Amino acid sequence: MMATGRQTDRGTVRSFTEMDEAAKRQKLSLRQRAFEILEHSRRRDVASRVIDDLLVILILGNVAVVVAQTIPEVANQFGNTLFVFDRICVLIFAVEYAARIWVAPEHPMLSDKRELVARVRFAGSPLMVIDALALVPWILEVLYPHSNLILLTRLVRLLKLARYSPAIATIGRVIAAERRALLACVIILSGVLLTCAAVMLAIEGDKQPERLGDMSKTIWWAAAMLAKIGGGETEPVTVLGRIVAAITVMLGIFCFALPVAIIGRGFYEEIRRRDFVVTFAMVARVPLFSTLDAASIADLVNMLRARTVAAGTVLIRQGDPGDAMYFVASGTVEVTTKTLNVRLSEGDFFGEMALLSRGPRTATVTALSSTDLLVLEVDDFLRLLDRLPAVKKQVEGIAASRDLG
Ligand code: CMP
Repeated sequence: MMATGRQTDRGTVRSFTEMDEAAKRQKLSLRQRAFEILEHSRRRDVASRVIDDLLVILILGNVAVVVAQTIPEVANQFGNTLFVFDRICVLIFAVEYAARIWVAPEHPMLSDKRELVARVRFAGSPLMVIDALALVPWILEVLYPHSNLILLTRLVRLLKLARYSPAIATIGRVIAAERRALLACVIILSGVLLTCAAVMLAIEGDKQPERLGDMSKTIWWAAAMLAKIGGGETEPVTVLGRIVAAITVMLGIFCFALPVAIIGRGFYEEIRRRDFVVTFAMVARVPLFSTLDAASIADLVNMLRARTVAAGTVLIRQGDPGDAMYFVASGTVEVTTKTLNVRLSEGDFFGEMALLSRGPRTATVTALSSTDLLVLEVDDFLRLLDRLPAVKKQVEGIAASRDLG
């Protein structure tokens, strides 16, 4: 029984989330259901929410235990309890890891692969690598029980929280987007550090050989001055030395302000991209959804993510794998291949072909003006098509009619 969410003759409105979810869940295989719980992280799904919350508590508890075990008084009094708690956490993390690997073939982007291939590819994804690293300390403890590295590696478990924090993903995106500017900052800072250290060595190296007699000493002095964490105990004794010290302090302010400003601006840009809210009216205006009933549109409002891009932004690159489709809420984009040049504007959609074929992107899509987009991630796209056959037919029809040049 597939409810489409349309207005029925008697005027009742049926939401596909409420009715289909329950009906579909009964039909789902154990692995499909496990995938939904573990990988979908839908706050609307109680089981998924409970598992997510439990894992977050365990991760935080485990990190707290790691720290507590380094405090002799706590370790003496509660050592055994902490040890048992840590082992239980590791066991649960190992089961969680195995379960995620087990459900990997259910991932929409991997479901056309052989199970082993899907699992290997999934194991290589960043979050799974972090999950694997979280288990490494346990292996180290068995192999090298007294290594000092174990404490450090156990703290890696904190990174597991990345899965549950969109903010961490935002930081990652900002750093990735600004990597060139940040690399330039590192180069400038290194240059300033070495120059100040070399100048100070030349000026005061023979006057204060104990403190400024070689580059290792003056590099430490310059780093302390640049970061304003001290260095006062090594005061220059010459006038020129004092002038260089003052310049070093001022350069420090510049060097540290620069990356802060770059990251701050990156955050602003990232947040600005999300600052328009997907409204009911916006979704209802999309021609593809205009015949849907109110409840289905309300569900779509929750599925779609807003994204504003500047003119010139490349949204899709030909040949890349597909991860989402887009609806143009306002603005214009250009679809290009070697032989094709098509403009799409408000109400049009793109990016559906790679998701339907599970192949690579067929064209490059670039924003021609500042454009507001509604983004539908691949998981939601496949669910949507599954639930709304009429929409599926329309999307497939439009995709088939698109001339690839
Ligand atoms: P996809 O292959 O996922 O990524 C590139 C997108 O460009 C493609 O999906 C379509 O949505 C869109 N596209 C490709 N060819 C055309 C065309 N002839 N007219 C309009 N859009 C197209």
